[in-house]
Amino acid sequence: MEVIVQRDYAQMSKVAAQIVAELLNTKPNAVLGMATGSTPLGLYQELVRLHEKEQLDFSRVTTFNLDEYVGLPGNHPQSYHYFMHEHFFRHVNIPAHNINIPSGTTSNYPAFCEWYEKRITECGGIDLQILGIGTDGHIGFNEPTSSLSSRTRLKTLSKQTIDDNARFFERREDVPVYAITMGVGTILEARQLILVASGKTKAKAIAQAVEGPVTSMVTASALQLHRDAVVIVDEEAAARLTMRDYYEFIYAAKPAAPRS
Ligand code: PGA
Repeated sequence: MEVIVQRDYAQMSKVAAQIVAELLNTKPNAVLGMATGSTPLGLYQELVRLHEKEQLDFSRVTTFNLDEYVGLPGNHPQSYHYFMHEHFFRHVNIPAHNINIPSGTTSNYPAFCEWYEKRITECGGIDLQILGIGTDGHIGFNEPTSSLSSRTRLKTLSKQTIDDNARFFERREDVPVYAITMGVGTILEARQLILVASGKTKAKAIAQAVEGPVTSMVTASALQLHRDAVVIVDEEAAARLTMRDYYEFIYAAKPAAPRS
């Protein structure tokens, strides 16, 4: 696992966007795995900037989102369909038929989940999966005790996730209890993973994921099993890492590392 510590959120977002841009420059028809939440917003803004100012082309890109709340229609302001459209898709040139987001309103979840997995395979698998991390260490909505070989399925959200996400809803009771999410096993099959985390509320989960044991109690720790996983954090999220000097030494020695 590579760990990149950046001074702040803006810089973290830039470095993450640079990795995505490098992939698109070498593979214009890449399959991207997308994440929602407040953390990847800066990364999406930077990709939009690169699209508008530096002609970064998404016309052959295919995307798969990690997860969606169950019960929210796509036009609900808190649905991940809405989030992705608002913050990213409407600003770049990805063809609508190349965009895949789990359905929060299907009448048959098991069949939908199976179809979603099949569709990922048919598109050649995910080249690069973007990830955030929950304060409970989740990736996607793979809450503590999720199997590390799980596939796309329905999950019940943990109390901590419901509390964390209540800030986006009028009342805590409005937060959906269920979500459809790619599994940890699905995520681990992506050829490259980048996880972004910012702020002191993420410091414990990041330390557990990067330096703790691999455990279903912190599903982000499964990144340790991946051959090409990059964790990009700001100062605050890095606060509890014990090997920080080592990560910085490695990054500084990397010839092609993007800096400013
Ligand atoms: P956040 O969510 O970026 O809004 O903190 C992260 C997550 O739950 O994956």
